[in-house]
Parts: sequence; C-alpha cells; structure tokens
Amino acid sequence: MKTLFVIAFTSVVINGALAQSFNLGPCPKVNTVENFDIERYSGLWYEYERSFLMIFELGGKCVTANYSANSDGTVNVVNSQISSITGSESSITGTARVDDEACNNTTCGKLIVTFPMPVIGEVDGTYWVLETDYTSYSVVWSCTDYKVIHASYAWVLTRDRNPSEAVVQQTTNLYANNNPEFILMTKTNQENC
Ligand SMILES: *[C@@H]1O[C@H](CO)[C@@H](O)[C@H](O)[C@H]1NC(C)=O
Ligand SMILES: *[C@@H]1O[C@H](CO)[C@@H](O)[C@H](O)[C@H]1NC(C)=O
Ligand SMILES: *[C@@H]1O[C@H](CO)[C@@H](O)[C@H](O)[C@H]1NC(C)=O
Repeated sequence: MKTLFVIAFTSVVINGALAQSFNLGPCPKVNTVENFDIERYSGLWYEYERSFLMIFELGGKCVTANYSANSDGTVNVVNSQISSITGSESSITGTARVDDEACNNTTCGKLIVTFPMPVIGEVDGTYWVLETDYTSYSVVWSCTDYKVIHASYAWVLTRDRNPSEAVVQQTTNLYANNNPEFILMTKTNQENC
C-alpha cells in the first residue's frame, strides 16, 4: 500500500494528476526505440496528452518537460506546469538514465527517472520511449510491477505546443500499434499559458 501511495503521490507531484491505470498481471512487453539518442531528445517538449485522469481538476495545464544532457551521461529533467486551480507555476527537477539492465547494455529507450520527494526521499519511475522522431513527437510509457497487478501511465509529448493534425494522427497510430493495453488518453490544456 505504501508503494501505491508513493506512486500516486509521485503522479500528483510530477504530472499534477492521479493518472495511473491499474491492470492485472505483470507489465506487458512493449517495444522501445533502439539506439536512443539522448542529445537529440534534449530540449523542450510540450505534453500533448496523457492517461485518463481519475481526478480531473487536479490536472495542471501548460505542462512541459525540458531535458538536457548532463556531463556524466544522465539527463536533467525539469517538469513544469501551471495549476488549473491556483494558476501558479510549479516545477520539479529530476534525473534520468538509461536502464542498462532492461536494455541489456545497449542504449535503448528504457530510462529510469528519479525525483527527489519531500519526506519520502528519492522516487524512481520507468520512462520508456516507445516511439520518437526527436523533432516532432514522443510516445512515452511507464509501468510499475506489483505482485499481481501493474500500474501503467502513458503520455504523448510534442515539440510544438499546438502540433499539426498530421503529427497528432501519427502519435495516435503509433500508440495504438505498440501499446498492448488500452489506456484512455486525455488532452492536456495548453491554452493561455
Ligand atoms: C531548458 O533547459 C536548458 C538547459 O538547462 C536551458 O538552457 C533552457 O533555458 C531551458 N528551456 C526552458 C524553456 O526552460
Ligand atoms: C543480451 O546481449 C547479449 C550480448 O550482446 C546477447 O548475446 C543476448 O542474447 C542479449 N539478451 C537478450 C535477452 O536480448
Ligand atoms: C551489463 O554489463 C554489466 C557490466 O559489464 C554486467 O555486469 C551485466 O551483467 C550486464 N547486464 C546484462 C543484462 O547483460
């Protein structure tokens, strides 16, 4: 229960929403990008959509993620958003690194993101890049195994705050093709930012 709370809490802090989807069994196998290029992945991304929100009003708007390469090969992660309730801006800074074990010592798109949390200390989450062209979209998936269930979370990032219909269509197709389970996506409010 403690772990579930931590995950839910992490989601609230990082994504402004309780957006985990719980399913039976272990995490399903999914394909991630090969030869993941952290340099090309760096820079600013806008959250276009994310998993279904269980508590809608907690969702922040104008959500962005800014990635930059650290000299030690890890990635600096800055997630920002504006509270839909108070209108105040907040951000959280973490670190991402390629999960060598999950990638079998190659540079695949399976990352681990660590965020420092008040009281509970550091919290790790998986960050799997299912598909990206580095220049317009990225389809990301996160899954955590518990004993008999798994919790998954998905989101789509775009380089443009308001991506073209063609880009949106592409991410939808990619997500449907690669993801073995259905997760309802909700568009992130990127207006009046
Ligand atoms: C993103 O991070 C880089 C590196 O820290 C910084 O130079 C840049 O200003 C940031 N961009 C935004 C929009 O915050
Ligand atoms: C891991 O990599 C090694 C060496 O490249 C390879 O022989 C092995 O088949 C790989 N294992 C998996 C599960 O892909
Ligand atoms: C990856 O490399 C490390 C160090 O060389 C080794 O200890 C580990 O067993 C390797 N992991 C896999 C999955 O091959």
